[in-house]
Amino acid sequence: MPAHVAVIMDGNGRWAQAKGLPRMMGHRAGVEALKTTLRLCSDWGIGALTAYAFSTENWSRPGDEVNFLMTLFEKVLQKELDSLEKEQVVIRFLGDLKALPSRLQDLINEATKRTSTNNGIHFNVCTNYGGRHELVMAAKKLAEKCERGDMKADLIDENAFASELLTAGEVDPDLLIRTSGERRISNFLLWQLAYAEIYVTDVLWPDFDEAALTRALLDYQSRCRRFGGLKPRGTSEQLESD
Ligand code: FPP
Repeated sequence: MPAHVAVIMDGNGRWAQAKGLPRMMGHRAGVEALKTTLRLCSDWGIGALTAYAFSTENWSRPGDEVNFLMTLFEKVLQKELDSLEKEQVVIRFLGDLKALPSRLQDLINEATKRTSTNNGIHFNVCTNYGGRHELVMAAKKLAEKCERGDMKADLIDENAFASELLTAGEVDPDLLIRTSGERRISNFLLWQLAYAEIYVTDVLWPDFDEAALTRALLDYQSRCRRFGGLKPRGTSEQLESD
């Protein structure tokens, strides 16, 4: 099993439109698919699930859709917090959270605090998240440390850089799942996905169920991960080519 799965939950709007429903209904159904995925990942011993809920670019959607999504996040958090706590989920929101409505920020703070000492799956919800922004902020923090004299530029290495990212402390995703057939990374976890296996499915996110997740995991298990070397990590088997 992968230790960390990341998901780009694409296709909510198309799912709704194909059924003659407003796009918003697709987002509502998307929440159900996310709950199912979280529960299955937790049951199957996957240590972390990171989901792309709202990108820094999503603000350019029509105002009513943005408002609907913000209200949906609030409602879902309010409704699900008790069960997240009970199921030992550790929830974190990754992104520039200061730009979110203040009620949502309060709920995020409460949820983060209440679940921080849990010992189950790490559930990272990327909200107002952009990979390039995250990298720039990490560079800024390192530069500030150097300016203050707390760090020498010479000592900046991959570990020092990773520890300034929003995902600090989390292992990098082993598997990236993107639904609805698009083959893009869309500014998601640009640093962390360096060696992730990418799985794209035509299934639209609201239809992503146990069978779809099983297919993604079986596909992942069939991959030979060499991390740039010749041998799969953790085996001594020699391969003929890379
Ligand atoms: C992409 O589909 C999906 C989103 C922008 C929103 C995803 C959000 C959720 C499923 C809710 C998560 C909520 C919490 C609180 C964790 P799209 O609208 O881009 O679909 P399209 O490509 O078909 O238009």
